Amino acid sequence: MTLDEITVRIDKVVAEGDGLGRLPDGRVVFVERALPGELVAIRIIKQSKDYARAEIVRIVEANDRRVEPPCAYVASGCGGCDLQHAAVDLQRKIKHDIVFESLVRLGKATDPLVLDCPDDLPLDSCRTTMRWAIDDHGALGFRAQGSHRVVSVDDCLVAHPALRELRHSLAPGARSGIEEVSLRVATASGERSVWWEPSDVALGAVPARTEVGPQGVVHEEIDGHRLRVSAASFFQASATGATALVRAVRRAAGDPTIWTSDPVIDLYGGVGLFALTVVPADHPVIVVESNASAVADAKVNLRDRPATIVRSEVARWRPVPASVVVADPSRTGLGAAAVAVVAATKAPVLVLVSCDPASLGRDVGLLARAGYRFEYTEVLDLFPHTHHVEAVSRFVRDERLSPL
Ligand SMILES: C[S@@+](CC[C@H](N)C(=O)[O-])C[C@H]1O[C@@H](n2cnc3c(N)ncnc32)[C@H](O)[C@@H]1O
Repeated sequence: MTLDEITVRIDKVVAEGDGLGRLPDGRVVFVERALPGELVAIRIIKQSKDYARAEIVRIVEANDRRVEPPCAYVASGCGGCDLQHAAVDLQRKIKHDIVFESLVRLGKATDPLVLDCPDDLPLDSCRTTMRWAIDDHGALGFRAQGSHRVVSVDDCLVAHPALRELRHSLAPGARSGIEEVSLRVATASGERSVWWEPSDVALGAVPARTEVGPQGVVHEEIDGHRLRVSAASFFQASATGATALVRAVRRAAGDPTIWTSDPVIDLYGGVGLFALTVVPADHPVIVVESNASAVADAKVNLRDRPATIVRSEVARWRPVPASVVVADPSRTGLGAAAVAVVAATKAPVLVLVSCDPASLGRDVGLLARAGYRFEYTEVLDLFPHTHHVEAVSRFVRDERLSPL
């Protein structure tokens, strides 16, 4: 052991995927790629008076679910999948525990019910939408962990075979000025799109039968429903993940035959994924979405439905009475302004889709104060091999909690 080495025991893995331990002086230390229970010799790489960051020099006692990463690019420094050193059962337990702890610590929930998604989600070859970075030689790859450096990646483990093929067809070339390229494939139609910014810089040869630019459209089929998705619109990262998410939202929304006749409100509705798949075809639905491209897609996707598509920030939308609210915000979560909007709908049921456990925990607390009682969260491993986790939570309006 060298003088600058310290040995620490790892208590748990925290939301960003690092192991958490304590230094001899009591400060918290976040250790890259350390797993729960491990005893590791570490080297501090950054510190402040409250906490430190460290890398592993040596593993003294390994978690027995530590594995050799299945993807060779982890050894080259690719930071795309930061939990590959954990067996899949441990990856899922880590994510479950992170969600549970956020609900308790930030949401002040008492012994919250946290369920695992019953669907058999794929581990590899599933991603149908991916944003790739471009290295100095014009090749596509991903950023190294905690750095801007791009690691060129030819064959990504988690990419769908059609997306791998699309990536292969983009040979290195002169691409100065382009930092990232978004690739999307639709498993149902075989269509594909490529989009980068700034769009006036040439990407090089783009393969035939590929839509180019923000308006490039593909059509995906999710749970029997066809959706138009433009390149500039958000869409779930995999078709299998979107299907699992739709089913989880449907479970949480409950039996539509007992919903009131008020519309379902799909906040942060994107291209209308939940409005189309979760809401029965004859039930009114209002989609609230701020992105112009997604709004245009939602209008097409819901054209045969009693649907109203509103282009607005959620916090600026004027609430109306609702039977169910489904809300799927970005990583920042709902926050106080959007919680006030949800509460003003007086919807008996709220389904909250969260991609950030800390935002979920905070929102659970805000919702409780606004009259929404937490019932349960279902955890979905939509981003295998990474620390990212999706959670679908059900809340019911409880007059006794409500200040309104
Ligand atoms: C996580 S995505 C969910 C989209 C959709 N529910 C789906 O599953 O495909 C979040 C969506 O919210 C939109 N958005 C982000 N901030 C917003 C805001 N403040 N008000 C309304 N929409 C917003 C984004 O454009 C994006 O389409």
